[in-house]
Amino acid sequence: MEKKTIRIGHSNTDYYFDASLPKLAQLTDKEHSILIVDENLFSLIGARLKGWNCIVVKSGEEYKIQATADGIIDLLIEMEADRKTTLVGIGGGVITDLTGYVASIYLRGIKVGFVPSTLLGMVDAAIGGKNGVDVGVYKNLVGIIRQPSFLLFDISLLQTLPEEEWQNGFAEIIKHACIKDAAMFNELRNHDVAYYRKNKKALSALVKRNALLKTKVVQGDERETGDRKLLNYGHTLGHALENQYELSHGQAVAIGMTYAAGISAKETGFKDAEKVISLIARYGLPTYARFNARKVFDVLKHDKKRERSSMHYVLLGKIGKGQVKTIPLETVKQIIQELNQPSS
Ligand SMILES: NC(=O)c1ccc[n+]([C@@H]2O[C@H](COP(=O)([O-])OP(=O)(O)OC[C@H]3O[C@@H](n4cnc5c(N)ncnc54)[C@H](O)[C@@H]3O)[C@@H](O)[C@H]2O)c1
Ligand SMILES: [Zn+2]
Repeated sequence: MEKKTIRIGHSNTDYYFDASLPKLAQLTDKEHSILIVDENLFSLIGARLKGWNCIVVKSGEEYKIQATADGIIDLLIEMEADRKTTLVGIGGGVITDLTGYVASIYLRGIKVGFVPSTLLGMVDAAIGGKNGVDVGVYKNLVGIIRQPSFLLFDISLLQTLPEEEWQNGFAEIIKHACIKDAAMFNELRNHDVAYYRKNKKALSALVKRNALLKTKVVQGDERETGDRKLLNYGHTLGHALENQYELSHGQAVAIGMTYAAGISAKETGFKDAEKVISLIARYGLPTYARFNARKVFDVLKHDKKRERSSMHYVLLGKIGKGQVKTIPLETVKQIIQELNQPSS
């Protein structure tokens, strides 16, 4: 186990890499801790959580809502959780978002730690302190920014992860490579999902590299006024697609990254769109997709990142170098329509 203490804003987070779940007992004492887990994961690892106080919630994004937070709060009161209590979210992004949110409002804030159990959780969701819940169709509308006290990384938890969740994680890893890490981009080009699933050492190094990459971006810009915006690469169009088509987050972001690479080619002179697209395909993710450009564009127009007649779009200047550019809405629309023409 390797410990790294990282300061973000005014707080310190202890990162435990190459750790294992049983080590949790060394980070927080059982008596004063309450674990929050979803049903799916609990059915897989519940037996290993004997002796811990647990709250088990329903699985799925549809339960990342205030009503679930309220239910957790009721149980915390029943369990007599107080200021000495630490909440530990063990799970994917849904659980770490919920746990971080409840921990920051219960008694105006109690200690929280995360054990991310999905690849996406390890490289993205558990990091950076943004936690919250969805309200109706609005994702993450209500929430806070508050850093956890600790993060425990146990990649052996990923053994039971379904294929689609690997894809979701790799979409964010490819995103990180595109905006910040050309060397990792090249490494990814030499391997594939199967390689990382088999090779524990490589997977562990990849998880650590991505966790630290996101951490560094957040460290420089906790409240998303600058560099943190780059983490939205592929997400602007991605979110619009995710809302309207039956796509996983990773698939939607992959299509979003494909189009954003195409827009970059026109707007920044980016020369490696094909490389980005072939990497996305290598990891089993979709690239171009036919969608109703007009319908999707209507949603895009209402994206948070819009400013009047133009929008902030995350583009690539080079591989490993993301940039935010303000582009007229009309231009975005035109390029998306052009790229969306069925080519064969
Ligand atoms: N806070 C942030 O900065 C941030 C960043 C990215 C995403 N998110 C949020 O994260 C959420 C998505 O996270 P996710 O993709 O981890 O989804 P998730 O939490 O729903 O987990 C995906 C599925 O995998 C199951 N699962 C979890 N661990 C498992 C394991 N080890 N083995 C087998 N199955 C397992 C879960 O029960 C669930 O069914 C979204 O709500 C998104 O908004 C937050
Ligand atoms: Zn994402």
